[in-house]
Amino acid sequence: MSDSRRLPSLSRRALLTGAAGAATLASLPRFATPALAQAAPLKVGLMLPYTGTYAKLGQFIDDGFRLRVEQLGGKLGGREVTYVQVDDESKPETATDNMNRLVGRDKVDVVIGTVHSGVAMAMVKVARDSGTMLIIPNAGANDATGPACAPNIFRTSFSNWQTTFPMGKVMADAGIKNVATITWKYTAGAEMVGAFAENFTKNGGKIVEDLTLPFPQVEFQALITRIAQLKPDAVFSFFAGGGAVKFVKDYAAAGLNKSIPLYGAGFLTDGTIEAQGEAAIGIKTTLHYADNLDNPANVAFLKAFKAKTQKDGDIYAVQGFDAASLLEIGLGAVKGDAAARDAMIKAMAAAKIDSPRGPLSFNKAHNPIQNIYLREVRNGRNELVSIAQSAVDDPARGCRMT
Ligand code: BEZ
Repeated sequence: MSDSRRLPSLSRRALLTGAAGAATLASLPRFATPALAQAAPLKVGLMLPYTGTYAKLGQFIDDGFRLRVEQLGGKLGGREVTYVQVDDESKPETATDNMNRLVGRDKVDVVIGTVHSGVAMAMVKVARDSGTMLIIPNAGANDATGPACAPNIFRTSFSNWQTTFPMGKVMADAGIKNVATITWKYTAGAEMVGAFAENFTKNGGKIVEDLTLPFPQVEFQALITRIAQLKPDAVFSFFAGGGAVKFVKDYAAAGLNKSIPLYGAGFLTDGTIEAQGEAAIGIKTTLHYADNLDNPANVAFLKAFKAKTQKDGDIYAVQGFDAASLLEIGLGAVKGDAAARDAMIKAMAAAKIDSPRGPLSFNKAHNPIQNIYLREVRNGRNELVSIAQSAVDDPARGCRMT
């Protein structure tokens, strides 16, 4: 990408050549100076939810990112890392202001964020307008790597389509004919249910009813009563964080887990099993991770995450960890010179990461290409059942970079 941020790298070269360079430096606007000095710390903006129903998700992304940076000696591309943290509260209405502050006032070199699809789309707009480097470590909004894709925007998580499309075939192949869906009424819920339904109906299934409630409400009772009346063969759902804990417990408390099997996007049971307890046993989900993936990268990651946080790692921690790995690949290629944008982006786009989730690479829209696993809650964790679909690539509908 060629934008005003390329100016500092040219000027730095001029600076090294003598007096003319010094004059150029003096005339540069204030915002450009951090990129000039590669020895200066790299400023990373972490815009994540640290409160609200997605608080734990944000904290685990933060912990995963910092863990990887610590493993790299506290540096990315050879530069010390400093952080500016913003609690976005999963509120789309304040997202533009929060992102503008990070970019305009704090002058961060890169932003890592966020969890909620609606907040992420506001961030994407600011990133596109300002040219700021953005790595999305969770939010799955299809448009971020669809019509709104841009060279300076990467995702180390998933598109909403990607995680649930494979489940449509898995459930149809299991002989399930009639499904009721339930989710929060916002981008992530609509897109995950939509992708599941696309593949489920293509394989002969029927959606009997779509049930929704506003994000982040957790008054599930009336909807659970409706599911009991409908008596579908199974339920497909998307909830995450605190809301997922409550939904799974309410579903079991109503006794429905004994008669109508609960399926979902993996967020339903990732990072939530401990709080859900017995209510989660037997739930089947699809996701780009399973707790017991037996690859050396996952084994090492879980050990290191536990040592740092005394907690069990989950997909959110993995996505934060991989965001730092991706940034290291980009900055490493340009020796820490974040202003050498084209070369940095080229290296990131070509990255092949040995992730705890398995092989991770990126499509032309900068969305991950990755395995989607079928998991089942057993022994207090999301255990691998099978690969539901390997190397799943989001269609990136509407992206002009493809
Ligand atoms: C989303 O809003 O995109 C999202 C939030 C939590 C888990 C997964 C996706």
